[in-house]
Amino acid sequence: MNDSHVDLYEKFWLWGAAAIVLLFASAILYSAYAATLQPPSHVETIDPTKARDDARFANPGVTTRSDGSAVVVLLAQMFAYAPYEVKVPVNKPVTFRLTSPDVIHGFEIVGTNGNTMVVPGYVSQFTTTFSKPGNYLIVCNEYCGLGHHLMQGRLIVEGERK
Ligand code: CUA
Repeated sequence: MNDSHVDLYEKFWLWGAAAIVLLFASAILYSAYAATLQPPSHVETIDPTKARDDARFANPGVTTRSDGSAVVVLLAQMFAYAPYEVKVPVNKPVTFRLTSPDVIHGFEIVGTNGNTMVVPGYVSQFTTTFSKPGNYLIVCNEYCGLGHHLMQGRLIVEGERK
C-alpha cells in the first residue's frame, strides 16, 4: 500500500491554496514597489493633549524648500483638517506630516497613493509626488465619530509656473 498517495481532489486544493498565498504575497509586493505604498511611519511620538501647542504643529500649513519640494503640516481632528486646503507643487516631492489631538482619523487623497492613518500620540509622515495638476478631495477613511462623513479637505496641485 502506498501511504504517499494524495487524492486528485486534495491535490487540487493544495495547489489552489498555494496559488492564493502566492497571489496575496504578490499583491503586497506590487503595492510596495509598483504602487509605492508604504506602511505608516509611526516612529515619531507626540503628546496628543499638547499637539496643538507642540512646535512641530503650532503653525500648520505648507512650507516650500529651496529645491522646490514641499512639507505639509496638518492636524486631523474631529471633524476637520487644519488647514482645510493646501497647495502643493506638481512633480516635486511633497512630505506630509500629520497628527491628531483627539481620536484616530484617516487621511486619503482621493485618486492618488497619498493615504495614511492618523493616530493620536504619533506623527504620521509620508512623501509622494503628484504628477497631475488639479483639485483633489481629501477624506477621512477611519470612523471617528458622528461627523466622520463630513470630515474632508482639499489638495490643490499647482502646475509649473512659466
Ligand atoms: Cu476623522 Cu473619520
